[in-house]
Amino acid sequence: MCGIVGYIGFRSVSDLLLEGLHRLEYRGYDSAGIAVLADESIVVRKRAGRVSELAALVQTQPVEGTIGIGHTRWATHGGTTDENSHPHVGGNGEVVIVHNGVIENYDSLREQLTALGYVFHSQTDTEVVAHLLAHSYIEQLKLVENSDTHAAALKAVEATLTRLKGTYGICALFRDATDTIIAARSGSPLVIGVGRDEYFVASDASPLVGYTQEVVYLADSEIAVLRRDNMSITHRTSGSVQPSIQTLEQVSSDIELGDFPHYMLKEIYEQPKTIENALRGRLDDEEGTAVIGGLNLTPQQLRSIDRVVLTACGTSWHAGLVGEYLLEEFARLPTEVEYASELRYRNPPITERTLVFAITQSGETADTLAAMRECRRKGHPTLAICNVVGSTIAREADGGIYLHAGPEIGVASTKAFTSQVTVLTLLALYLGRMRHLSYPAGKRICRELRQMPEKIEEALKCHDSVKEIAEKYAGFDNYLYLGRLYNFPVALEGALKLKEISYIHAEGYPAAEMKHGPIALVDERTPSVFVVPRCGIQPKVISNMEEVKARKGPVIAIACEGDREVERIADDVIYVPEVAEYLQPLVCAIPLQLLSYHVALLRGCNVDRPRNLAKSVTVE
Ligand code: G6P
Repeated sequence: MCGIVGYIGFRSVSDLLLEGLHRLEYRGYDSAGIAVLADESIVVRKRAGRVSELAALVQTQPVEGTIGIGHTRWATHGGTTDENSHPHVGGNGEVVIVHNGVIENYDSLREQLTALGYVFHSQTDTEVVAHLLAHSYIEQLKLVENSDTHAAALKAVEATLTRLKGTYGICALFRDATDTIIAARSGSPLVIGVGRDEYFVASDASPLVGYTQEVVYLADSEIAVLRRDNMSITHRTSGSVQPSIQTLEQVSSDIELGDFPHYMLKEIYEQPKTIENALRGRLDDEEGTAVIGGLNLTPQQLRSIDRVVLTACGTSWHAGLVGEYLLEEFARLPTEVEYASELRYRNPPITERTLVFAITQSGETADTLAAMRECRRKGHPTLAICNVVGSTIAREADGGIYLHAGPEIGVASTKAFTSQVTVLTLLALYLGRMRHLSYPAGKRICRELRQMPEKIEEALKCHDSVKEIAEKYAGFDNYLYLGRLYNFPVALEGALKLKEISYIHAEGYPAAEMKHGPIALVDERTPSVFVVPRCGIQPKVISNMEEVKARKGPVIAIACEGDREVERIADDVIYVPEVAEYLQPLVCAIPLQLLSYHVALLRGCNVDRPRNLAKSVTVE
């Protein structure tokens, strides 16, 4: 979702901001803009559309300077127009801001400011903040000693924040406080990059990569004042904060496409490696268990757990569903998977013996964060399964497990899903071995997990056949995805992938449930994708395939090599290697990712930046 980048230092700021905005594009956006402090005035360039269009505008109307802020906007209040794009100027140009988040009381603030004579040029909630800041700045200037513009600017920010309800990550430039950027957050992430005589600020670390490895993650209620040669951070209630500088592990190659045409394809192909990374150092073959260090709970505490709640959104929620089956099978722990957006407002019985896990790639999803905070507020230890190191959820959780999958840039999650499933398998093994799971079973699981990178490599060999099948089916507008047991969440995930990037209506269902509704949709124009590798329940799923065929529905099957029974019924078969049933989600996800990728390409869709979607959903 919206992305912020800011810079103060010695480099040419418009180029740097544009590059930063390019790197933030993956978050999802519909317009972009920059503001530069040049010759003691603020110059804004912004427009609806792509960062490349903004770059073209800046090329025809260049702006020089070494201090500036930039933004990619994902529309919430007001349509996608040049006027609604950020940055927004307040008052008579005293201040300019970029903002992520949602100001809930913007309507009443707008009325008050209009009554004071402020004129609005956009429909955004952000412009309210810009005018409030300008108003407050003028007031503060009269109160501070010697009309100190820097002191007035900081006080104006402090005063303005007390009037806002909602969430924000804000960066502001004040025209008369010429060597300062002020950044503040409440709910929307901001990270500061520390350089030599330069500072960066951004919504996530990607714009900083290659410039600095030293970062400070701003916490809620903190305000940072960045000058070229120093930085100070204050907490709105507890005062001055000693910044904790951390080392950024990302390197430039992590965020480069290399030889791949799209990030999604690159990330699909990274999966043998990312699964290996998720497993690295976490398998104890001798003891037949997993080694999970970061839960921050004693073995006694872990043994006393009698229930698990997994909470997440989107693809991470699907990984959670696989986790439920794993935890119940291996650890015999009753497990529920909750949509974070529901959990945050519900009051389910969670006791001190319930283990809550937030599952999230980005670590910033607003609903997942809120659900986690709600559980923590009630005093329950809440852990995270997270990819982005230093993200808000990773920092606020009581403990957890990192995916180590590297940055995921494609909006449609691929490698994060398989890493989440891998980590959940490790967790189930770990908790299982503390309970009922036998030593031989634990050893077998370790052995089977170790083979997974190789099995994923093998699964990727289906690419050419998937491409051909995509050509045959890309023109259809409705799909069903069906699977059972471990492959039911895979069916949901396959359908989600197709929806996300091809804009095709697709429904995932437990195969047997099909008879209770979806079968009414089956006809020659509705392909059904069956996830049907060999498993105990396979004959039942094959019967469901027959039922679809009997109604002239085209059938695409994901099956194991040499499965004659499936070949006999399905119109097209995509082969995956044979693995244990509980590991089938890992191999079966691969062809479904590739299928959605190729169908999207054939339909002319932008696979890495699908319309309306955001990589990191930082609003409710
Ligand atoms: C968005 C993304 C999805 C992702 C979901 C949850 O909808 O487009 O790919 O699965 O958010 O994100 P998280 O970062 O919490 O896993």
